[in-house]
Amino acid sequence: MEAFDYRDGELCAEDVPVRELAETYGTPLYVYSRGHILSQFHALKNVMAEVDPLICYAVKSNTNAAVISALAGEGAGADVVSGGELLRARRAGVPADRIVFAGVGKTEAEIEYALKEGILYFTVESEPELERISEVAQQTGTTGRIAIRVNPDVDPKTHKYTSTGKKENKFGVDLERAMAAYERAAELPGIEITSLHMHLGSPIMTSDPYAEALEKVAPLCRDLKTRFSTFRHIDIGGGLGIPYREEDTAFDLDAFAYAVIPPLKALGLTVSMEPGRYLTGNGGILVTRVEYVKDNPFKKFIVIDAAMNDLIRPALYEAYHAIRPVRDTRETVFGDLVGPICESGDFFAANRDLPAVGPGELLAVMSAGSYGFVMAGTYNSRPLAAEVMVSGNQHRLVRKRQDMEDIFRDEVIPDWN
Ligand SMILES: Cc1ncc(COP(=O)(O)O)c(C=O)c1O
Repeated sequence: MEAFDYRDGELCAEDVPVRELAETYGTPLYVYSRGHILSQFHALKNVMAEVDPLICYAVKSNTNAAVISALAGEGAGADVVSGGELLRARRAGVPADRIVFAGVGKTEAEIEYALKEGILYFTVESEPELERISEVAQQTGTTGRIAIRVNPDVDPKTHKYTSTGKKENKFGVDLERAMAAYERAAELPGIEITSLHMHLGSPIMTSDPYAEALEKVAPLCRDLKTRFSTFRHIDIGGGLGIPYREEDTAFDLDAFAYAVIPPLKALGLTVSMEPGRYLTGNGGILVTRVEYVKDNPFKKFIVIDAAMNDLIRPALYEAYHAIRPVRDTRETVFGDLVGPICESGDFFAANRDLPAVGPGELLAVMSAGSYGFVMAGTYNSRPLAAEVMVSGNQHRLVRKRQDMEDIFRDEVIPDWN
């Protein structure tokens, strides 16, 4: 489902004009399409129906409670990476037995909380973590179900900061050492071996890395099945890509299913997946208003009221986001789209044809539903933006805009005397 499209020359979010949203809630404003997020979920669920995967939404991509609860309502689980995300997922209605917990640095308190909740399993990233889970499980009289995160050393062909399944990355346990890690797990009290996990990185635009990784881990899975009677499950991670550029083609779900279903069926394990971006990425935009158009002798700068504190992906990964005018115009100007922050990295588009808009007009930064608001901060004392969700012709505020009091509230000037 195309969530954001033009009707009568106006960009709409589902059936609601984006201009109306900007007038009601102000800018910068994150707008999410509930319909798009759910249709992505169902498309994935349907194409993978033969192995009926549990889809554990990677909450980190967009932690808004309205997003998590919409997906939970359709049967999604959650992939969390902190105690905070676990609490969010539970509060948004995700049953504990559909939650998986990844991350290289789980604290004792986080492990204790997850054990008490009874999560589906921990995605274990190292042997010391196995030992810690075992200790906490014994102290609390619980059992920790575990998957070892196996690093299959496959190149996902993405940005070096978002590649996670190569041998030089900090994540998981090398394929060669994985059986030894499982053997260690089997010796430890309070641990039940149930699963194997892999996640290669993101965004991945073809099914080849998944097929290659599955081929690499299949012999290990077969061994694990014969060695450990409780071993029953494989998690193939997330990372499925989305189109960011107008000319990008969508991730080919049919090709993905064709590549991964036969090897998964051959393994005879239950399956889960952890998509984030695929569900939420193109289900969100960042709406911003133009403040100034600045003509330097060498370049034109369109200065907007959103900044890198609202959406850091261009500064962090040189990520590309398409820019669309809210009132449709074919006219373009060449230049940079920049925010007001005192950093040259504060840009949304550089050296591009941009919509020819003037002060007061609205623009949409596309594909901002994942790793957008969740990575926002208050640098330059800029309050966090508001978030709105649209469903058909309805819209709801799903996070209020911060005000300056919210920013100052927890700060203390010491009384030294
Ligand atoms: C373990 C794990 N699973 C899933 C994801 C979600 O990735 P994506 O949003 O690209 O699907 C990530 C992303 O960092 C991850 O680290």
